[in-house]
Amino acid sequence: MDTATRELFDANAATYDRVNTLISLGLDARWRAWAASRAVEKPHARVLDAFAGTGLVGLRAAALGAEVTLADGSRGMLEVARRRARASRLELRFAETDLSTEPPEVPGAPFDAITVVFGVRYLDDPVRVLRGLATLLAPGGPLVIVDFVEPDGSFLSRLAAFYFFRVLPRVASLLAGRRGLYDRLVASTHRMGGAKRLVSLVENAGLTVTETRRMGFGLVAGVVARHG
Ligand SMILES: C[S@@+](CC[C@H](N)C(=O)[O-])C[C@H]1O[C@@H](n2cnc3c(N)ncnc32)[C@H](O)[C@@H]1O
Repeated sequence: MDTATRELFDANAATYDRVNTLISLGLDARWRAWAASRAVEKPHARVLDAFAGTGLVGLRAAALGAEVTLADGSRGMLEVARRRARASRLELRFAETDLSTEPPEVPGAPFDAITVVFGVRYLDDPVRVLRGLATLLAPGGPLVIVDFVEPDGSFLSRLAAFYFFRVLPRVASLLAGRRGLYDRLVASTHRMGGAKRLVSLVENAGLTVTETRRMGFGLVAGVVARHG
């Protein structure tokens, strides 16, 4: 994980969730709920929430009965997650780690499921990192990815893109007092491309895609993948 990314998330940790909820009109909770529901396929499933940030996906999975490890490279984001877990009286494990190392080092592997929500876009080499995460995944288990993608061409999707990618960074800068994170959201979404590209990244990492879903007016893609 590069220093700039870590510092960016450390600096935004305190306001990250509030600002996200405001600018997504509360829809982000549904996207994370979808990821958690796809990850927890059995009672006590061992779930790795990778790029966990403040832990919102992992906490949902834990509330569904999973045994959850939150892994992230930002101490500031994980600290917020720790406080939230204490407040919810949920027992989670925490791993402050760089998930782009080969192989990634996360105690507790293999996991029955792995979630990566809003984590892929930030990666310089997503295929390599996803291949590394796949080594932590038990045979048959789901890797669940959710991320922003470019609009699919429909009017609604293009309108939503205008809001998310033009209006949103300005609103976020007013609310959070800094623009860096949201400017990066826009730049990284352009770099990601459309939902098909997200699917091809996952397939190039050696996994088989078993489900896809469009959410958030077509600006958010969900992918479930498994070992061949
Ligand atoms: C946009 S946040 C997403 C957080 C969370 N999954 C959510 O649903 O809001 C991306 C997270 O990825 C983490 N991250 C980025 N690159 C990383 C890396 N190489 N290793 C570990 N964590 C990384 C950042 O610290 C940040 O918390």
